[in-house]
Amino acid sequence: MRSIWYMGEKMRVLVTGGAGYIGSHTCVELLAEGHDICIVDSFCNASPEVINRLEEITAVRPEVHRVDVRDRAKMMAVMARYKPEAVIHFAGLKAVGESSQIPLNYYDVNVQGTVVLLEAMQAVGCQHIVFSSSATVYGTPHYLPYDEAHPCAPSNVYGHTKHMAEQVLSDWQRANPESAVVLLRYFNPVGAHSSGRIGEDPEGPPNNLMPFVAQVAVGQRERLAVFGDDYDTPDGTGVRDYIHVTDLALAHLGALAHAKKGSGTDTFNIGTGAGYSVLEMIHAFSKASGREIAYTVAPRREGDLPSYYADPSKARAVLGWAAQRGIAEICDSTWAWQSQNPTGYKP
Ligand code: UFG
Repeated sequence: MRSIWYMGEKMRVLVTGGAGYIGSHTCVELLAEGHDICIVDSFCNASPEVINRLEEITAVRPEVHRVDVRDRAKMMAVMARYKPEAVIHFAGLKAVGESSQIPLNYYDVNVQGTVVLLEAMQAVGCQHIVFSSSATVYGTPHYLPYDEAHPCAPSNVYGHTKHMAEQVLSDWQRANPESAVVLLRYFNPVGAHSSGRIGEDPEGPPNNLMPFVAQVAVGQRERLAVFGDDYDTPDGTGVRDYIHVTDLALAHLGALAHAKKGSGTDTFNIGTGAGYSVLEMIHAFSKASGREIAYTVAPRREGDLPSYYADPSKARAVLGWAAQRGIAEICDSTWAWQSQNPTGYKP
């Protein structure tokens, strides 16, 4: 099924943030398709153990460089040595709450990091890049589902940095007409690789729903706080478009093939098109794990939107990509990962 968009052309792909949650799952799919990859990661929010797990799953040990994407000299050196045909850019900071406390770090890593990466790509004539953006760039919905033409008005610092990085990339593309930029706006990435060997491993208490639910199920945390049950949604709790990380990873393969086909900047929503509430996710996870998920209803979390989901039809039409995995597979794989690795990658 996935070979429909991929037609067999092997590429040399440099993956920034390749040891992170979405990056590592994308590396598995790149290696499975026979691409050559080079991971650049600062490991500031990722474990070196991920590389062993990648090797276990794919039987390939990828080239890895412990480099911060803002380090111009080191990025130039890696590029000059590896000479990638394409880059997938995941490296970045991603906690919405933290972004308003340390905004300068977020602008530095997410925006300046992108500038340095493009300079290094330019130095070796690399012209194709797929960028890890977020549905958070849309801000408060004017209509739902969000399509790619929805105005962008992010309402938090993290969202501003993603939107600015998108602008940096599209301005660079315009100045380099032969180049190709693909911006992927992710909805809510969840789930884990079917092997249960790689998954999401947040540092400290998880900010996001699914890792928190998984840690309650495995006994690492006592109970979940459901942030608000008085929203104007079917059961009063927040509704999101949860996308399985393997489907999301496969979208990057489609995006790479698209980038290789022509020049320009193109933007795609990567979601399923369906929304699920917090309570629906708790019940689905309880079923998958056979564990009770203790929760209490807490006040709304500041900045949360009641409901949003994607119109993913452009990705289907242009990339030939659509999500294949549903809520049951999301919960089963998350449980496989969390129950086999109750403390994540830490021993
Ligand atoms: N929620 C809880 N309790 C928790 C955590 C979350 O009830 O402990 C609720 C939230 O209120 C929301 C839903 O679960 O209704 C999903 O929350 P997440 O934190 O998992 O995800 P968000 O939709 O808030 O944020 C995600 C990504 C961001 C991204 C954003 C926009 O984590 O990086 O989507 O697409 F910016």
